[in-house]
Amino acid sequence: MGTKGNVIKCKAAVLWTPGAPMDIEEIEVAPPRAKEVRIKVTKSSSYVCHNVENVTLASLPRTTCVRKLGTFSEYIVIKEISVAKIDEDARLEKACIIGCGFATGFGAAINSAKVTSGSTCAVFGLGGVGLSVIIGCKTAGAARIIAVDTNKDKFAKAKTVGATECISPRDFDKPIQEVLFDMTNGGTDFSFEVTGNPEIVATALASCNQDHGVCIIVGAIASWVQLNINSQLFFSGRSLKGSVLGGWKTKDEIPKLVSDYTAKKFNLDPLITHTLALDKVNEAVQLMKNGQCIRCILLP
Ligand SMILES: NC(=O)c1ccc[n+]([C@@H]2O[C@H](COP(=O)([O-])OP(=O)(O)OC[C@H]3O[C@@H](n4cnc5c(N)ncnc54)[C@H](O)[C@@H]3O)[C@@H](O)[C@H]2O)c1
Repeated sequence: MGTKGNVIKCKAAVLWTPGAPMDIEEIEVAPPRAKEVRIKVTKSSSYVCHNVENVTLASLPRTTCVRKLGTFSEYIVIKEISVAKIDEDARLEKACIIGCGFATGFGAAINSAKVTSGSTCAVFGLGGVGLSVIIGCKTAGAARIIAVDTNKDKFAKAKTVGATECISPRDFDKPIQEVLFDMTNGGTDFSFEVTGNPEIVATALASCNQDHGVCIIVGAIASWVQLNINSQLFFSGRSLKGSVLGGWKTKDEIPKLVSDYTAKKFNLDPLITHTLALDKVNEAVQLMKNGQCIRCILLP
């Protein structure tokens, strides 16, 4: 019997209580309505990310036939407008990270900052998104890319994708923005906040050149957090701007990014450190929380 118009029973990882492990359960996925599409998920990466702690179905009764889901399910229903059609020969087991982490970081450098050839960049936070910022800076022709992280285990990977120097704030007895000021003789041309820590926004802003430096906030900062930034940081010509999903027009431009990957214009291999079955989703989240994984692909 075909599935068209029918409920599909399938496996999903479901979070019933924030902070608790996810349960692997059989769920019922409703058929799509007008302007919706039901999709079979074969590879997932996007939401093994810090967005994950916000996902909960706790308010739904357990018997609900669901429509809107993250990608931790064998089938999902999403709005047609959110679907991007990519090349049939794309290697999904790698290209799936373009859907969020890679596009976000790469686009922050290329689209949001418009990094210039020969420039100096600092990237705070060397997770999958920060490493993708480095790939974007390198692609744009930056001459120096200074990678900053408190976890020095991330440095080797940062060098692999294009960082020219790596530094940890813990190795210095003065603020890291002063270290960067000295290293660059007056501040970077571009700085990227990719840790998600609101205090690092001011640090990244202060590390860029006071006359023309551009600081991009990529890290997701909770909506209730107020940024604490000294007005003097804007007394000259610095700019501070945000970037969501790399500033791409996703429906048209994500397929182009996938084609560029297939054409070997950039390499995603260094960003993918683990591949696990959907049943191991809690292990994937733990690896992410421990800083042991860059990106984990889940196979429903
Ligand atoms: N803007 C968007 O559209 C968008 C999209 C996806 C993800 N994000 C956000 O981007 C951020 C990065 O995502 P990720 O998956 O790379 O995260 P991640 O946790 O894998 O990486 C964060 C890195 O920051 C480092 N770090 C933490 N505190 C630090 C500090 N004080 N100084 C220097 N380094 C520090 C950590 O050691 C880690 O290596 C998250 O906040 C995520 O939610 C934003």
